[in-house]
Amino acid sequence: MKQKNLLYTGKAKSVFRTDVKGKLIVEFRDDITAFDGGKKDTLKNKGSYNASVSAFFFSHLEKNGVKTHFLEMLDDHRMLVRELSMIPLEVIVRNFAAGSIVKNYPFKEGSPLKPPVIVIDYKDDSRHDPMLNDDLIAALRLVTPAELKKIKVIALKVNVLLSKLLAKQGITLVDFKIEFGRQGKTIYLGDEISMDSMRLWDKKSGESLDKDVYRFNKGDVMVTYNQVAARIINNPKSATSKKIAALTKKILIVKKGK
Ligand SMILES: Nc1ncnc2c1ncn2[C@@H]1O[C@H](COP(=O)(O)OP(=O)(O)OP(=O)(O)O)[C@@H](O)[C@H]1O
Ligand SMILES: [Mg+2]
Repeated sequence: MKQKNLLYTGKAKSVFRTDVKGKLIVEFRDDITAFDGGKKDTLKNKGSYNASVSAFFFSHLEKNGVKTHFLEMLDDHRMLVRELSMIPLEVIVRNFAAGSIVKNYPFKEGSPLKPPVIVIDYKDDSRHDPMLNDDLIAALRLVTPAELKKIKVIALKVNVLLSKLLAKQGITLVDFKIEFGRQGKTIYLGDEISMDSMRLWDKKSGESLDKDVYRFNKGDVMVTYNQVAARIINNPKSATSKKIAALTKKILIVKKGK
C-alpha cells in the first residue's frame, strides 16, 4: 500500500490517495483548532491520540453491525479507509445539554436529554455550519428521506454502543458529532470519532475529558487526551485493543505532570 498525492487537507487531518482504487489514507495531524479556527495550536502526539481512539471506536462499531470506513491502522497516526463521497452533514447526538445547545436554547448545562436529541448541521465552514431540518435537507437534496431515516437510526445505534462502552470506563458520553459518506449506494460512517468530536465527562469528578479542555483552557489538553485514550483503549480482553495499544504504547500513559 503506497501513499500517493494529497487529496484534501482540513483543520486537523489530511487525506491522501493510495495506489489502490477506493482506498484512502487519513492522516491525523498534531493540529488542534477551536472556535471555527479562531484558536489554533500544534501539540505533540495529538494526532495519535485521536487516530487510536477513532480506530478503537470504529472497530467496536463494525463488530456490532455499523458500517464504517475504517479498514486498518497503518501506524499510530494514519488509518487506511474506504474512499467515500462525503455527505455534507454534521450529525450531532446529545445525551446531556452542553455547549451550543445551552447557548442557543433555554437548557440548563448538564440536564439530561431523554430521548437523546439529534441535531443536523450543514457542513460548510464559510456558512458556520448552520442547523438544518428535515425539509431543508430534502430541499437541498443532500440525502433522500429514506437515507435520512437510516442516518438517524445509525446515529442512535452509535450512541447506545459508545455510551455503554464509555460508561464501563467511568466516562459519560455527553454528545458527539459524526459524518457519513457513500460508496455506491451504501452509507458508511466516515471521518473520526475522537476527543475532538465528542464531549466526555468523568462520571465521578464531572471534569471534561475532551476538546473543551483546550477550548476553555481547563488544563493541559494533551495530558487529558493521553489519559482518556489510555482509559478507552487499554482493554486487555479485546484483540483490537491490543493491536491499537501496541501501536500507541510509546505515547500512551505518560504520568501526569511529566
Ligand atoms: N472515508 C472518507 N473518504 C473521503 N473523505 C473523507 C473520509 N473520511 C473523512 N473525509 C473527509 O476528510 C476531511 C478531513 O479533514 P478535517 O476533519 O481535518 O477537516 P474538515 O472536516 O474540513 O474541517 P473541520 O473538521 O476542522 O471542520 C473532511 O472533509 C472529511 O469529511
Ligand atoms: Mg473534520
